[in-house]
Amino acid sequence: MQTNSARLPARRSGVTVAPDAREAARLVAARIVAFMKEKPDAVLGLATGATMEPVYAELVAAYRAGNVSFASASTFNLDEYVGLASEHPAAYRSTMNRLLFDHVDIDKTRTHVPDGHASDPSAAAARYEAAIAATGPIDLQLLGIGRNGHIGFNEPGSPLDSRTRVVELHSSTLDANRAFFPDGRMPHFAITMGIATILQARRILLLATGPAKRDAVVRAHAGGFDIDCPASALSGHANVEWIVDAEAAAGLSG
Ligand code: F6R
Repeated sequence: MQTNSARLPARRSGVTVAPDAREAARLVAARIVAFMKEKPDAVLGLATGATMEPVYAELVAAYRAGNVSFASASTFNLDEYVGLASEHPAAYRSTMNRLLFDHVDIDKTRTHVPDGHASDPSAAAARYEAAIAATGPIDLQLLGIGRNGHIGFNEPGSPLDSRTRVVELHSSTLDANRAFFPDGRMPHFAITMGIATILQARRILLLATGPAKRDAVVRAHAGGFDIDCPASALSGHANVEWIVDAEAAAGLSG
């Protein structure tokens, strides 16, 4: 990574501030590459969303450069829309294949995304929770954050003890993701890992970039768990690093 001292990320307790979104994504990818070297058979928790796209591009580049292998890794994605076939371009399964899995040496039978197309989505959610328990714990969980403070699709109001389940998406989440559904037929429900499921991960990396995430980042750091800001639940986890760009960090003091 080319950098100079003026561009070195600022480190706060649990928060690393990168100068811009590109550098923030590079830092997250570098953390994952280093982690995979330490633990090649790691269980990774993965996220989707626009924020993650440059992270996966960096991981593909690192794989092509011979700097990382996923051959022994397992993955669990956080969430999936209910009612979309896995081949639908907006489905998180097809998104992960397109951005990462199709381009690295991962064994796809060890990549897991909730089955949003199951005839009984609640049963599929329970099976997913059981699969995480059987394979996990998740060693390193990657998270984004919604404008309303959601993590995974745990919308405001999600309890701390929530597990993988079917949830209804909030209007701000529907608005944020509408562009991925040009035909206007956007699912209103999803399967998501719960907050308790996420908090079981050994280590958590949350990436937030851009001014739209500023308020959510501030609210998540207000202290303690606020049910109206699900990301605030991370304050109760012992090994969380927030990697934020300067725009997303602008509301944090100190
Ligand atoms: C998606 C997920 C969500 C996103 C969040 C931010 O798997 O878990 O919590 O991380 O909605 O999405 P973007 O990055 O599109 O702003």
